[in-house]
Amino acid sequence: MSETDLATDRLAALMARGAAFLGCETAIICGAMSWVSERHLVAAVSNAGAFGLIACGAMTPELLDAEIAGTKALTDKPFGVNLITMHPMLMELIAVCAKHGVGHVVLAGGLPPKGSIEAIKASGARVICFAPALALAKKLHRSGVDALVIEGMEAGGHIGPVATGVLAQEILPSMASELPIFIAGGIGHGEAIAAYLEMGAAGVQLGTRFACASESIAHPNFKKAFFRASAREAVASVQIDPRLPVIPVRALKNAGTEAFTAKQREVAQLLDEGKLDMGEAQLQIEHYWAGALRRAVIDGDIEGGSLMAGQSVGMVTREEPVAEIVATLVAETRAALERRR
Ligand SMILES: Cc1cc2nc3c(=O)[nH]c(=O)nc-3n(C[C@H](O)[C@H](O)[C@H](O)COP(=O)(O)O)c2cc1C
Repeated sequence: MSETDLATDRLAALMARGAAFLGCETAIICGAMSWVSERHLVAAVSNAGAFGLIACGAMTPELLDAEIAGTKALTDKPFGVNLITMHPMLMELIAVCAKHGVGHVVLAGGLPPKGSIEAIKASGARVICFAPALALAKKLHRSGVDALVIEGMEAGGHIGPVATGVLAQEILPSMASELPIFIAGGIGHGEAIAAYLEMGAAGVQLGTRFACASESIAHPNFKKAFFRASAREAVASVQIDPRLPVIPVRALKNAGTEAFTAKQREVAQLLDEGKLDMGEAQLQIEHYWAGALRRAVIDGDIEGGSLMAGQSVGMVTREEPVAEIVATLVAETRAALERRR
């Protein structure tokens, strides 16, 4: 057997558990990205042998219903749906997934509310949750969750405070034998995929690397901003006043980033002067970015919109079909495994 054949076998063995769990060939999930992960990208990812996820975001049950139906029309391969736990109609959205026989539901944005895990499992689907710390990973496992995603702060979008490599070291050694764990955040090359698989991960989840695929409906301006950006331009949002909480989001620096800092200063000053009450002040900060991701992704407003991107954005240099991205990641992972032998 040649070295390459050995590495191919090794890769298949390392990905076998994740691929079997997802029902696809390659244990690579394209993480749900609001506005970006709609039927075209999701179907393209699943058709390429990886695993696509619809980002439900703030969609109504009717819109989700149409999006799942639209995706099914474009692929007969498995795909999943990512639901945000604080959506006011979460249980109705779960029912829509059940109606369509969606096999995997990801619950994102906080601990799953009472009854949600049970409702998903009752439909026969598998539940995947995000574990931001070892204690929570254990708790989620006890609650019946079927798989976990560990996402580090290098990722694009809403982030926690801890780096991917640290979470992977904390959680994989004690939990990887219990349930499949997928690693996300900062992955842009197969070298990292090989490393996390060898650490015991069942697979990986990437968002930034797929956001600008040919099949992604993101506006050409959004894609160009990604191609130009380096890792250090994908920054986490900064909170400047302890009274005004800011949810950390990683996005490319732009005029909106500056304006947000100015807005926080202005609101803090109005608070100091007693011209604004605390509730209203916090609301103004919380609502500042409302609709901003849509403005960047769909309208191409790359100055005022939110260009959510992870630090791996520096490895996104051109528009490529999803199948090419998946093939490149797989080839890089195989080559990395071959080198390590
Ligand atoms: C533009 C954008 C939008 C995202 N929206 C969501 C979302 O709606 N729900 C979610 O769970 N994760 C969201 N994410 C996170 C991704 O699903 C994925 O976990 C993350 O991008 C992985 O890290 P990476 O960006 O370093 O590849 C988003 C990421 C990006 C870049």
